[in-house]
Amino acid sequence: MSTANRQNPEHLKVITPAKIDWQTDDTGNMVPVSGEFGDVYFSHADGLAETRHVFLEHNQLPERLAHLAPKQCFTIAELGFGTGLNLLATWQLWRQLRETNPQLATARLHFITTEKFPIPLADLTQILALWGQRAPELMAFIEPLLAAYPPLIAGCHRLSFSHDNLTVDMWLGDAAESLSKLALAHSNQHTPYIDAWFLDGFAPSCNSTLWADSIFAQMQRLSRPHTTAATYSCAGIVKRGLKQHGFQIKKVRGFGRKREMLTAIITNAENGDTDSVNEGRDAKQETTYSTFEHTVVIGAGVSGLLTAWSLANRGITVTLLDKSAPLAGASGNPRALLAPKMTPIHHVDEHLHTIGYLHSSRLYRDLNQTAVQLHTAPILELTGALDLLIKANIGTEQIADYPDEMATTLSHEQAQITSGLKEQNLSDNLYLPQSGLVNPQALKDIILTHPLIHFQQLEVTKINEIEQQVRIEGIDESLNIATITTDNVVICAAFESHQLDQRIFDCRKIRGQLSWFMPSTEQLIKLPKIPLKYSGYCALFNAQTGDNELNTVVADRPYLLLGASFIRNDTNTDIRPEEHQISRDKLITAIPEMASIIPADTSLWQGRAGIRTQTPDYHPIVGQLANSQRIWTMNAMGAKGYALAPICAEALADMMLGSFAPLSETMLARLSPNRTRLQTPLV
Ligand SMILES: Cc1cc2nc3c(=O)[nH]c(=O)nc-3n(C[C@H](O)[C@H](O)[C@H](O)COP(=O)(O)OP(=O)(O)OC[C@H]3O[C@@H](n4cnc5c(N)ncnc54)[C@H](O)[C@@H]3O)c2cc1C
Ligand SMILES: C[S@@+](CC[C@H](N)C(=O)[O-])C[C@H]1O[C@@H](n2cnc3c(N)ncnc32)[C@H](O)[C@@H]1O
Repeated sequence: MSTANRQNPEHLKVITPAKIDWQTDDTGNMVPVSGEFGDVYFSHADGLAETRHVFLEHNQLPERLAHLAPKQCFTIAELGFGTGLNLLATWQLWRQLRETNPQLATARLHFITTEKFPIPLADLTQILALWGQRAPELMAFIEPLLAAYPPLIAGCHRLSFSHDNLTVDMWLGDAAESLSKLALAHSNQHTPYIDAWFLDGFAPSCNSTLWADSIFAQMQRLSRPHTTAATYSCAGIVKRGLKQHGFQIKKVRGFGRKREMLTAIITNAENGDTDSVNEGRDAKQETTYSTFEHTVVIGAGVSGLLTAWSLANRGITVTLLDKSAPLAGASGNPRALLAPKMTPIHHVDEHLHTIGYLHSSRLYRDLNQTAVQLHTAPILELTGALDLLIKANIGTEQIADYPDEMATTLSHEQAQITSGLKEQNLSDNLYLPQSGLVNPQALKDIILTHPLIHFQQLEVTKINEIEQQVRIEGIDESLNIATITTDNVVICAAFESHQLDQRIFDCRKIRGQLSWFMPSTEQLIKLPKIPLKYSGYCALFNAQTGDNELNTVVADRPYLLLGASFIRNDTNTDIRPEEHQISRDKLITAIPEMASIIPADTSLWQGRAGIRTQTPDYHPIVGQLANSQRIWTMNAMGAKGYALAPICAEALADMMLGSFAPLSETMLARLSPNRTRLQTPLV
């Protein structure tokens, strides 16, 4: 962290990683201790058994999870993620239950956890290696958790373990503040709530912040009758806090040598329901959740594809429509660069670009594993990217505030080696190790293999919301009129969304042309080795089998991609030689040594033009339309669809199904189709 940030009150938003000390416990084993609070994270001898006893059994998770209905989502909130042991134990239980209860195939577990002093990955790896030895049954969960563990920056990091129908939202920052950001009233759909709380702060005597009134007030706000809580602590502050905020508490036998622990439940006094704590719960009482079956998504660009993916992963059947074909619009470039627009770190927790970029990088890397299984091309080629900071809103001093695994500045020499540039002054730069090139075609292929997603060609002409349903009318490929009736519709038709429903803002339309050519062998060795960003961007890629379905390329050949032009209010998608020149000029102006390498004659270049859709405040549009029960939209991804669509799709699916979104209430308001800024049309 720079000195400037330490002096600024804003530094409070900057994450301080935990400092791990190791101590020998009374059984002679090494245990991790928090340097900040001087307390142990868990007991080596029986930490896992204690977790199972206190948090799993005393929230009755084995019974409650086993009784979930199809598509039902059960939400756990944890105070203090620490080493993740509670998550690992819960995950293991959930997988066991899903293996033995077929009706859980579409049920979901949502684990929301908070951590103010997250453990650095290297320490966590060492700590969890202990558990891997001691409890080998956890090994299967430790590996994917470590692979998904985010860089330690503030905000919500959504980790999706879709094979297990498990979503983990890791809110890094102070727990009370993070909980206050969870939005309840998304729409006129069901209101989300927490089913079970794991209160796992260090002892109140070491750290009172996790037992403060502000925490109990948030627990009350986010709970509802039948929500339970469990904690190993029986301290007076804990008992009083829970009681004053609507929980009925009960002391029960603690784990091992500990005499007692606390369980708690919110009782439904209004209904005269005074279930005593720890009595068996009636699973039928937990049916306040959305139960729709089918959604139509209009538009099969990256927005529509990812929306379909998020809904299908929640058990919803999706009909994905496009007037021509998947990726026919702006999303169908040969490759998309996954790179964030950066911001000073004290804004990062509310910065959609950073949070979205990290989420996308995780998702695409995860999908790469599916691609390996299916023997298809990778979704994300993790090349890293070098930004020459020619048109950036951040300098090297602010980059230094970021963890290196997210963003760093390379030395001039390292930058030369990494990029292959020889003459450029590279002393100021931004290196993004998690950036890379997305293969849209490969992403689409994997999404369309989902058994609940069905693509259909249809040019939608009319959407009618009728009682309990939506009727969609359009013209199919044989020019016949076709009608589909569905529970919900999501309009992802980019700049054409406004034509489908006038309530959607009529956005700015910005034409862009991307260019590419096949370099000669001599050119190839002199071209930049990794994607570069300047006022435009360039990237080498190898064409894969299937790429030629969308664009003119030959499989297994290298190409240099150059982008892109920006032409306002132009929706024509013809290929223009002068726009090839614009992209060439951007490159050689930024990197003069490329002038002798990039051919001046662009007549053999290929190109693709698409239309970017942009709002006046540059935020996407995500949410439910005003005065509508069943019509939603996700569009206006601007120039960053591949970084923004995955997180926006998750938020949208959560809003539709009444679960907690991975974005703060403030951010959801900023994305709302009904926000004030979108009330005035563009002039
Ligand atoms: C030249 C260029 C380069 C870019 N480079 C990058 C990059 O490197 N990285 C990045 O992240 N982003 C990049 N972008 C931005 C990115 O492409 C967009 O943000 C993204 O494609 C938007 O996706 P979308 O699904 O919202 O829209 P689109 O991909 O345009 O999809 C909308 C779909 O809706 C369909 N549709 C419209 N009307 C109807 C109807 N009535 N019925 C049925 N279907 C309909 C269309 O056929 C279309 O397929 C670039 C954009 C351009 C133009
Ligand atoms: C006992 S440990 C949690 C152990 C953990 N659940 C596990 O399974 O390893 C308590 C955790 O609370 C975190 N913590 C302390 N104060 C906090 C606060 N105000 N907000 C969020 N987390 C906090 C600590 O950094 C620590 O990781």
